[in-house]
Amino acid sequence: MKIAVFVSGRGSNLKAILDSAELKGLAEVKAVVSDKFDCLAFQVAKSFSIKTYSVGDKEGYINYDDLISELISLNIELIVLAGFLKLIPSSFIDKFHNKIINIHPALLPSFGGKGMYGMNVHKAVFDSSAKVSGATVHFVDFTYDTGKIIAQRCVDISDVNSPEEIAERVLKIEHELLPFVIKKIALNQVNIVNNRVIIT
Ligand code: GRF
Repeated sequence: MKIAVFVSGRGSNLKAILDSAELKGLAEVKAVVSDKFDCLAFQVAKSFSIKTYSVGDKEGYINYDDLISELISLNIELIVLAGFLKLIPSSFIDKFHNKIINIHPALLPSFGGKGMYGMNVHKAVFDSSAKVSGATVHFVDFTYDTGKIIAQRCVDISDVNSPEEIAERVLKIEHELLPFVIKKIALNQVNIVNNRVIIT
């Protein structure tokens, strides 16, 4: 299965996908896309000789329509948002219906939505005094963090002293959960039955 990974920052989830032993021979990252001209994740992509694209309206960036053509010509079958911070235009989402997934660093449907990214999420979880947090992988629809949930993993945060500690624990499980879900999709073991996502 050929995949494209969308990023905005440091790219540790991208690296987890590229390093994943369970994805070897099952999934291949053919393109890395960012809303930035450059970011740490691009350096990760380049070190694996993967094509990079900066998407948007700015000069020298590829626009979403041309990106669709490019991803189709690369035979991309799955798009993985791994720390991509921009809302994707609906025309793009329509084109890749149920073929775009996102990883969110909390247990949706709590602590999601506009503005809930990066440390904002972990600060909100910390302030709520929640005793568990975790990671969620979900299908992407037209609004932030509302698509159907594919898989979640929890982590105990009852003893943490800071949002940073939550971030550290959650990131660790993100790096396991995302490759796991990609593997399941590659094996055709993620299906929507009776309006629910079922993993077999
Ligand atoms: C991750 O916590 C991801 O869940 C969130 O943004 C962060 C990206 O981290 N949406 P990285 O760029 O993969 O290191």
